[in-house]
Amino acid sequence: MINNINKIKFKTTPYHYNLLKDTERLYALYEAISHVKGDLLYDLGTGCGVLSYFAANNFEKIIAIEKNYKSYLSAKENLKEFNNITVVNDDVLSFKFNEKADYIICEMLDTGLIDEEQILVLNNAIDYLKDINNIIPKGVINILEPILMENASLVYEDVDNNYLKYEVIGDSKILNIIYFKNKIKKEISEEITFTISKNSNFNALKFTTITIITDNLVCGPTPMLNPPLFIPLNNEVSVVKNSKIMIYLSYIMGGGLDTIKTKINEIY
Ligand SMILES: C[S@@+](CC[C@H](N)C(=O)[O-])C[C@H]1O[C@@H](n2cnc3c(N)ncnc32)[C@H](O)[C@@H]1O
Repeated sequence: MINNINKIKFKTTPYHYNLLKDTERLYALYEAISHVKGDLLYDLGTGCGVLSYFAANNFEKIIAIEKNYKSYLSAKENLKEFNNITVVNDDVLSFKFNEKADYIICEMLDTGLIDEEQILVLNNAIDYLKDINNIIPKGVINILEPILMENASLVYEDVDNNYLKYEVIGDSKILNIIYFKNKIKKEISEEITFTISKNSNFNALKFTTITIITDNLVCGPTPMLNPPLFIPLNNEVSVVKNSKIMIYLSYIMGGGLDTIKTKINEIY
């Protein structure tokens, strides 16, 4: 089925066209979806319907939910040949589930899960899953690096913005690993200590998210799956080689980029 992706003419919005062009993202999701089957699948945030298309022959019934009306219309068109797929134009946060599914697919990811509703949506849907291990993707690994950035600003390094100038000035640290198999607290508040590797100035963090697609497959960042996010600090400080710097970082998952707060706590 993946080979057909380049041949079939999927109806898309410009955003979903970019998602479809990101073959690394698509192949990783296809690899996971092609190995699962069951009676019922929920595809949450179906977009143009491509993930339901991958799953169509493996499930008795698929309910594909999309809140954006234009995307819903394209999914409906793209999936019209499959009698077992119902495409619904609704917000998953208010959708009334009434049946437990064998699997949930939910790709509403973004770097750090800060700006999209992945966590809120899964918290609302997880009670309607027979086995909480059956969510694709399974989770994310969030990584931070201290950097010196030219014109430090809150920006993604994505398809439209790949000429950012910066250098990494210390070690990378895992901020957290989030598995989507329980209801998850949306507030993140962490202290991270970096060891600085060169005499430099320090003015921003590079935030990288790797997606755990299955227990055996991780992916990204890719151009459209969690591109690195740069987070400027409130002030620029000079640091010396081998010094330690403790940063406080907080944000609300699903709350948007405006919820990000940073503070330099200590340099020693
Ligand atoms: C990153 S796109 C992925 C689309 C598709 N699943 C794919 O992998 O190509 C996420 C989609 O989720 C939809 N979405 C976001 N929040 C939603 C919500 N609360 N309820 C339903 N759809 C939502 C967006 O409109 C968007 O189409």
